[in-house]
Amino acid sequence: MKSNSIHLEWQGKDDLPSPSALGLERKMEVYPSGGSRKGNSAPENRLIWGDNLPVMDALLREHRAGFRLIYADPPFATGKGFLRRIGSGEDSRRPESWKMGSGYSDSWSTFEEYLSMLYPRLLRMHELLAPSGMLYLHLDWRAVHFAKILLDEVFGPANFINEIIWVYHGPSPVKAYFNRKHDTILAYAKGKNPRFFPDRVRVPYHPSTLRTFASSPKAGFGKRPDLSRGKIPEDWWYFPVIARLHSERTGFPTQKPEALLERILTSSSNPGDLVGDFFCGSGTTLRVADSLSRRWVGCDALLQSISICQRRLSLAKASPYAVDAFPESSLLSSSRHRIRVGVQTVGREANVILKGIDPCPPNGFPVSLDYWEVDFDFQGEVFNSTFQSARPWRSGTPELSASHRYPRKAKYRVCVRAVCSDGSVVSMEKPVDLARE
Ligand SMILES: C[S@@+](CC[C@H](N)C(=O)[O-])C[C@H]1O[C@@H](n2cnc3c(N)ncnc32)[C@H](O)[C@@H]1O
Repeated sequence: MKSNSIHLEWQGKDDLPSPSALGLERKMEVYPSGGSRKGNSAPENRLIWGDNLPVMDALLREHRAGFRLIYADPPFATGKGFLRRIGSGEDSRRPESWKMGSGYSDSWSTFEEYLSMLYPRLLRMHELLAPSGMLYLHLDWRAVHFAKILLDEVFGPANFINEIIWVYHGPSPVKAYFNRKHDTILAYAKGKNPRFFPDRVRVPYHPSTLRTFASSPKAGFGKRPDLSRGKIPEDWWYFPVIARLHSERTGFPTQKPEALLERILTSSSNPGDLVGDFFCGSGTTLRVADSLSRRWVGCDALLQSISICQRRLSLAKASPYAVDAFPESSLLSSSRHRIRVGVQTVGREANVILKGIDPCPPNGFPVSLDYWEVDFDFQGEVFNSTFQSARPWRSGTPELSASHRYPRKAKYRVCVRAVCSDGSVVSMEKPVDLARE
């Protein structure tokens, strides 16, 4: 059954924002596994801070039809604001050690306004995808049925691949309806021959199926699958939610489990492919893409999200990546806090010591250090981050000193950039004069 004549209409649908001419500016290069830039080759992976609509317009100028896979986990139209848990050991069993901090808004004056946000972004993702690429759009009962009609319009009904139901469980006090414990992920291919390899994510057969085949020669109506290979998963997937995965929790609301992204990326891309997530939140897709040797581009409008991604990539010792943003936004902007930094030098060695953050708000939650990084030879434009240290998610503190050996005895400028637990970013520059010694 083919139909292209069924469309979703709402007031404002045709007022599509015109493509933005804004260009992205390189703000940082980050080397989480140590080392620094080799010659002229800038890192291929990119974390981009900004509204994903003009960001995708900018990417279209370089990467039209260049992405093999896009995972999109936009706000779900919940009508709420989502808060982050901040502080050390954000653990529900120790509420005194964390508090809620600002997160992102998912509040819309009308549902039409929400659709007018989503639609032009789906159009751009379609343009960014390669002919063999795939989109996975993650939503829930609130918007998914509308999005299905939109994706049929943008991708064509024939390119629908799956409606994946991600099921999970957890407590819920509701009595007015059954517990809503699933999300829906719509998978579409850009064209006729998508890169789709479900064989790679086979799962074991249920023990009862194995028992049936062992006990009855007629099982499977005489067709006996190779039981040792396992089966291609159904279109409903069980993975525990992040609240139950202490090892993965970053404190970011609506963070998705890595296992979910692993299945999507493994089945729908190859090592070396370019993977995009333009609502990247805490960076689950980026972390998984990196661990599976995919190249990646992540984007989020929220600075705290960019900081959490950085902390996550640093703790994972990920591959080098660049941080880009629009020219007017600064990643070195100072907050109301200050950092105290000391630099000791001996010969060509410098040791940068982070001594503290001032002032802690007098009666407030004490501000601690989540993440810091150093450019030992800051030239005033791109921050070249060759040292990073992050507070581990569950317990522990970051290292507080960073050493560096300079190639020559000369004058340098060190720039230190720190992310505090309240999400604010603070930076400081210091001269280092090795020529004097
Ligand atoms: C549901 S969360 C994504 C969670 C993510 N998948 C994870 O595992 O952490 C949605 C994210 O989209 C971001 N966002 C919302 N509107 C955006 C926009 N117009 N441009 C860029 N990011 C946006 C929010 O800041 C939020 O981080």
